[in-house]
Amino acid sequence: MRPAEKPYRKLVLVCTNEREDGSNCCAQRGSLEVFQTLKARMKEMDPTVRVSRTDCLGNCATGTTVILMPDNVWLGEVAVEDVPVVIDKIIE
Ligand code: FES
Repeated sequence: MRPAEKPYRKLVLVCTNEREDGSNCCAQRGSLEVFQTLKARMKEMDPTVRVSRTDCLGNCATGTTVILMPDNVWLGEVAVEDVPVVIDKIIE
């Protein structure tokens, strides 16, 4: 193992976890659209911010869950309409 290059200034994680049994999960609440919209807009605005989708982040009851790193800011109940506000938080 060795330290790796940091190709991005910030990392944004969007839970897009989907449960096969359809139980409580971020995918049920439109997280894939949140991820796709946020990723496309950030890529245009600031390519030094990486937006990645993840599996469950353990905050299922308040999904869609989004985490802003390295600031360790957790956002819940994020809808696609919230993407501009999420972007403001990323770039502030
Ligand atoms: S399914 Fe998204 S936080 Fe658990």
